[in-house]
Amino acid sequence: MLYDPITINRLTLKSRLVMPPMQTGRTDLGHVTDDLVNYYHERALYSKPGLIFTEHSCITEAGRAAKEQLSIADDGMIPEHRRLTDAIHAAGSRVFVQLNHGGSSAVPFDDGEIVSASAVVNLRKPSPRMPRPLTVPEIHELEDAYARAALRALEAGYDGVEIHCAHAYLLNQFYSPLSNLRDDEYGAACMENRVRFLLETMEKVRAVIGADCPMAVRLGGADYMPGGSTEEDAVEAARLIERAGADLLDISGGMCGYIRPDCKEPGYFGSMTEKVRRAVSIPVILTGGVAKLADAERLLAEGKADLIGVGRALLLDAHWAEKA
Ligand SMILES: Cc1cc2nc3c(=O)[nH]c(=O)nc-3n(C[C@H](O)[C@H](O)[C@H](O)COP(=O)(O)O)c2cc1C
Repeated sequence: MLYDPITINRLTLKSRLVMPPMQTGRTDLGHVTDDLVNYYHERALYSKPGLIFTEHSCITEAGRAAKEQLSIADDGMIPEHRRLTDAIHAAGSRVFVQLNHGGSSAVPFDDGEIVSASAVVNLRKPSPRMPRPLTVPEIHELEDAYARAALRALEAGYDGVEIHCAHAYLLNQFYSPLSNLRDDEYGAACMENRVRFLLETMEKVRAVIGADCPMAVRLGGADYMPGGSTEEDAVEAARLIERAGADLLDISGGMCGYIRPDCKEPGYFGSMTEKVRRAVSIPVILTGGVAKLADAERLLAEGKADLIGVGRALLLDAHWAEKA
């Protein structure tokens, strides 16, 4: 099952094993290094995931989420990303970029102001500075920045694009009622408003990548915190995201990050992916706590997801799948 192929839009993956995006700390202040190229090449070569997501890349320098975060914020980064995609393709895997803006958790090099949905301190990575709520024209400018970054990714040879709306980063800050206190059309009064920024971004990204290029969304569907987003919200959002043209749904946590506080079992977001999968017809990725091949196979057999992400086990050992 895990090594069965699956088709995402025009792209056929040779297996359902996914290496999820993981910031490695191997960049040189956001630039690609030999170490980073080798890291991805080895994981593609020895563990043969059908799909690798490279670590989140900042779409603007103001949205940088960590000093070592990879950048795709200007055209000068295209040849550097080309080194990553070439190395992964040479080893036989497909590769998507992950586009991100840190919002209230951003740490820009120039120490400039940080922005978010509302003036709410980031629950996951609190900054000493209070974020400023984005104006509507600024939201539209950032949507354009996502689209420009997506175009760079295609020029760099990526097979698809993932928009990051999880783990308490900017788009997730609009999605979660814990960080979105707005009362305009991007506010938390209804799901359409909570995902409006994401859906408008998807529309602009689609316009530049074309109809047949795979577009994924990583949705931090539930916060698992009082007053936060819920698995039921994730189902509602997933329907809207599918309708807006996503080809792949990559499910993870919201304000709780990639860990689920109340559950540690392999595939700990499985209760959410199962519900989401029943509501949509596009493929769904389940990631979290899977470190054994048998667990990945079982989660697929149980219908929890269509693809399984294995993160930390692959981060620690490029030969993980061979050994497993
Ligand atoms: C060191 C590290 C860096 C991560 N960086 C990212 C990232 O850049 N983007 C993202 O969406 N998730 C990121 N994650 C979350 C992983 O993609 C994954 O969801 C998480 O590790 C849970 O899966 P696992 O139990 O198989 O490791 C990161 C996780 C770790 C451990």
